[in-house]
Amino acid sequence: MSKTKLDPQLKASAFQKALTQWYDEVAKDYPWRQTTDPWAILVSEIMLQQTQVATVLNKNFFTNFLAKFPTPQVIAVASEQEILSAWEGLGYYRRVRNLQKAAIAICENHAGKFPTDHAEILDLPGIGRYTAGAIASFAYDDAQPIVDANVARIFSRIYDFQERVDSSAGIKQLWSWAETLLDKKNPRSYNSALMELGQQVCTNKAPKCEQCVIQKFCKTKSPENLPIKKAAKKTVLVDEFALFCVCPDRGILLQQEASAERRAGMWKLPLRDHLQTEKLPLLNKSSYAITHHKVTLRVYQSQTATIPQHDNNENTIESWHPLSELADLPMPSPFRKVLNILLKAHF
Ligand code: ADE
Repeated sequence: MSKTKLDPQLKASAFQKALTQWYDEVAKDYPWRQTTDPWAILVSEIMLQQTQVATVLNKNFFTNFLAKFPTPQVIAVASEQEILSAWEGLGYYRRVRNLQKAAIAICENHAGKFPTDHAEILDLPGIGRYTAGAIASFAYDDAQPIVDANVARIFSRIYDFQERVDSSAGIKQLWSWAETLLDKKNPRSYNSALMELGQQVCTNKAPKCEQCVIQKFCKTKSPENLPIKKAAKKTVLVDEFALFCVCPDRGILLQQEASAERRAGMWKLPLRDHLQTEKLPLLNKSSYAITHHKVTLRVYQSQTATIPQHDNNENTIESWHPLSELADLPMPSPFRKVLNILLKAHF
């Protein structure tokens, strides 16, 4: 199909109109679109950074988290274990620590009231340009541009951008286009519409160009080759060897990672070296992905009297916990899953 090569820069208002009219017709009724509370919008944006919309929706993570922490004041005084537990299942736990840091800054520097000014939002810890723009536009309908992966993909295609979008020049260019094309009269709908188009139509694989309402503004002939990015890191295979050790008097042995580690504060089955577990009966084998790692997790039965020794390094502590308290301990999902299977099978 031939394409009219219009310069989107000259046609910003037609571009905006096509996009927002389409959005009015197809907009999904996401819970974070039913609120203009900046705190709720911040929570949604942080959740959606590394977790798919479907996952956040399916398990009611957004609604449950806000029920527990409805305001910055409530989370500001919560314990580490409370915030990690509320985030369990979402992974990338640094995000919830950053949320708490932002909440503390709101309480300490803004008298507990979420700032309305874009520069002040951007100044909060853990909030970058995308998130500040999203809060300003979605909560306050303030005319601030956004660039996330969806927007980067759309712009790289409509401008047929043959440079890397993750280079500093590429990032600068994307933000400049975002400013040029922004619908300043209707920033909330316009920014939401861009995200929706990226999720529903201008998708990474198999974009649905024939359904696209801004197709006539799009310069690329090969959308599937855009955007251009630095090659993804190669997947690294990792093995984990864990113990399932339950003692009738003491409960279950667990390991907690200390601060500075990725999963600091989270509890899991005690990990050992391969050599320490190879003679033990294998109870379960599963696998999970984390960043560019593919982890195979093997869990072995250990008798209380002969627990393979822990090297007691500073990064972990080990302790016994009654089975009745397990639900309250924050635990990475892959460990929670296998533990539920083993407890069901053995008790
Ligand atoms: N992903 C990130 N933010 C989003 C939003 N506000 N709506 C839909 N998907 C999103």
